[in-house]
Amino acid sequence: MDTFAAQPDPDILGRRVREMIDAGKLNAARAVLAALGRLAPPGPTTAELSARLALAAGQLDRAAAELDLAVAAAPTHAGLRRLRADVRHRRGEHVPAAIDAAEAVALDPHDASGKAILGVLMTELGRPADAVACLTEAVGAEPANPAFVEALAAAQAAGGDTDRASATLAAGIARVPGRVELRNAAVLMAIRRRDFAAAHSLAEAARRIGVADACLFGLLGHSLSCLGRHEEATEAYDSALKLGPHDPYVRHLVAASGALPGADRAPSPYVRAVFEGYADRFEQHLVALGYRIPGRFRAVLQRLAPWTGREDCGPTLDLGCGTGLVGLAVHDLPVGPLHGVDLAPRMLARAAAKGVYAELREADVLTVLAEPAPLYGLILAADVLCYFGTLEPLLTAAHARLRAGGLMLVSTESPATDDTAPPPWRLGRQGRYAHTEAYLRAAAEAAGFTVRELGPEVQRFENDIPVPGLLAVLARS
Ligand SMILES: C[S@@+](CC[C@H](N)C(=O)[O-])C[C@H]1O[C@@H](n2cnc3c(N)ncnc32)[C@H](O)[C@@H]1O
Repeated sequence: MDTFAAQPDPDILGRRVREMIDAGKLNAARAVLAALGRLAPPGPTTAELSARLALAAGQLDRAAAELDLAVAAAPTHAGLRRLRADVRHRRGEHVPAAIDAAEAVALDPHDASGKAILGVLMTELGRPADAVACLTEAVGAEPANPAFVEALAAAQAAGGDTDRASATLAAGIARVPGRVELRNAAVLMAIRRRDFAAAHSLAEAARRIGVADACLFGLLGHSLSCLGRHEEATEAYDSALKLGPHDPYVRHLVAASGALPGADRAPSPYVRAVFEGYADRFEQHLVALGYRIPGRFRAVLQRLAPWTGREDCGPTLDLGCGTGLVGLAVHDLPVGPLHGVDLAPRMLARAAAKGVYAELREADVLTVLAEPAPLYGLILAADVLCYFGTLEPLLTAAHARLRAGGLMLVSTESPATDDTAPPPWRLGRQGRYAHTEAYLRAAAEAAGFTVRELGPEVQRFENDIPVPGLLAVLARS
C-alpha cells in the first residue's frame, strides 16, 4: 500500500507564524519560520514574517535592514511597503514612512491598515485634513477597529475639530463598548477640552460597565479634582493606585492630588504621555493662554547681547524644547547652532518641522546634561523646570555643560500662596512643580552660577488670571 507523507502547506505555516507573533510566542514562531524557509524558496512572504518577528523582538534596526533588502527585491509588494512604513514610523523617519504607506495604499487600495498608518503619519506631519481623509476610509472599512477610531479622533482633534473627535470616539465606544483605550481617549479628550463634567460622566459610565483600569481611575480622579470634588478624587486615585501601583503616570497624578508624598521630579513616562497627547494642540493652546516665555527669552538676549565681541555665542541647548517655540523665537540671533532635547517624539516632530534646529534628540534632559561634551554658550529652559521639584541636580549639570562666560535662561512657576514660609518647591494639582524665588536663587548659587537677573515674570494666563512665575539669567563666570 502506498503511503503519502502529509506535506505542510506554506500558506498555513505562514499563518501560524503570524498568529504566534501576535500571541507573543516568538521562539515558536522562529522555529516554524525556519521550517517554512526549508519548505519554500525565500520570497516577500518569508521576508515579511522575518521582519515582523524582529519587530516583535524589539530589533527595530534589524527589521529595517531586512525590509530594505526585501523591498529592493519586490518593490511592488504592498505588505512589505506597509510594514516598512510602520518600522520607519517607529524609528521617527516620518517622511520616508509616509512615502511607503502611500505606496502600500496605491498598490492595494483596499488596504485599511495602510490607510490608517498613512493617516497617523499625516497627523504627525501636521496635515490633519489629509489624515482625516485617510483615517475616515480606514474606519469605514473596519469600524470596530479601536486603533483606527482612536487615530481618526486624534486627527480630527489635531485639525481643531474636537467636537467631531469626541463624536468619533462616542461612535467607537457604542460599537465596541468594552475597549478601555477608547474609553480613556474619550475621557482625555473631554479633559483637554476642559469639559470636566463630561470627562467625569464618561469615566463614570466606563466604571459602571466594569472597566477596571488604573489610567481610567486616574482620569476620573483628575476630572473630579478639576471639578473641585477633592475627596471623591482621592477615592478615585486610591482605586487607580490599587490597580496600577507602579504606574508612574498614576503615581504622579496621585502625588499631585496630595494623597501621596510628591517625588522630586515628574517621571519621564508621565511627561512623555502628557506631551504626546498634547503635541497636536500645544501651540494653539499656549497662544490662547498668552504664553510669552519664548518672546521674553528673545528680549533678554537682545538686551544682554552675549555675542558681543565674538562671532556668535552658540551652540545653544534648548532643554525641553517641545514644539520648538523657543528655537523659533531665537534662531535669527547669533546663538546657533541650536540643539533641542525633549522626551516626547511628537513634540520633537513639530520642532523638526520648524527647520531651525541643527540637532534634536529624544532624551531626558538630565541624561543629555550628564554627557561630557559639547560645551554650550547658552542653555535655555523655558517652562520645563516645572517638571522638576528639586533643581540642584539639573542646574549643577547645566553649569558643567556651559563654557566660561556662558548663560542659562530659565523660567519657573511660583507657588500661589500667602504662606510666609512656603516650602522651597511644591507639586500642584495640575502635575507641575512651583518654586519659590529664594529656592531658585539658592539652587542656582549652589550649582556654581552667578545670578545675573532674577525677577517676576507672568508665564501665561489661565481663565484670564496671570500665572505668576520667575525668569532668571544665570551666568557661569
Ligand atoms: C510646557 S512644554 C515647553 C516647551 C518649550 N520649552 C516651550 O517653551 O514652548 C515642556 C516640554 O518639556 C518636555 N520635558 C519635560 N520634562 C522633560 C525631561 N525631563 N526631559 C526632556 N524633556 C522634558 C516636555 O516633553 C515638553 O515638551
